[in-house]
Amino acid sequence: MKLSVIYDSKTGNTKQCAEWIVSGMTRIEGVEAKTFSVHGVDEEFVKGSAGVVIGSPSYYALMTADMRTWLLEGAPKLKLGGKLGGAFATVQYTHGGGDLVVQSILTNLITIGMLCYSGGGAFGDPCIHLGPVAVNHNIEKACLEDFRDNFEIFGERFARKAMELFG
Ligand SMILES: Cc1cc2nc3c(=O)[nH]c(=O)nc-3n(C[C@H](O)[C@H](O)[C@H](O)COP(=O)(O)O)c2cc1C
Repeated sequence: MKLSVIYDSKTGNTKQCAEWIVSGMTRIEGVEAKTFSVHGVDEEFVKGSAGVVIGSPSYYALMTADMRTWLLEGAPKLKLGGKLGGAFATVQYTHGGGDLVVQSILTNLITIGMLCYSGGGAFGDPCIHLGPVAVNHNIEKACLEDFRDNFEIFGERFARKAMELFG
């Protein structure tokens, strides 16, 4: 079963988090997961994916303009309706809008008919209510490591659910 993680990233933080999600996804047997920059999406792989996770940095507490444009113009060609969807974000500040970014991505995904999944609080720690968010505190990537587990566990939970539904 294929899964895709699509991200926008200028300085590498969101790309790194996408890669952690994929490493969590591939803990589930039978999953083939790949990351794609929003500027280089493998459309055939995404079309063949049972689930797609979308990630963006917070730009003034919203997703980036490039991600929004892709969701409006690129995503509709890929027949995402009915697939499992998820979202994640990276921020500079704790209160930098991460949940708003995740929520706005999920709103897009629901609008195009995706079945959205966060993993939720039901599994306990880490309780990921909407989607994972990493805070870099503007001190380079070292700090991102603190969030690695959350992203890997999110990826694992997402892949397990996709397997239950579509495997
Ligand atoms: C134009 C611009 C606007 C930003 N706005 C916010 C913001 O509102 N809140 C925040 O916490 N970080 C903000 N940031 C910081 C980025 O969201 C953060 O550093 C992110 O991890 C960068 O991701 P990337 O390395 O994948 O590009 C902004 C950065 C840029 C360049």
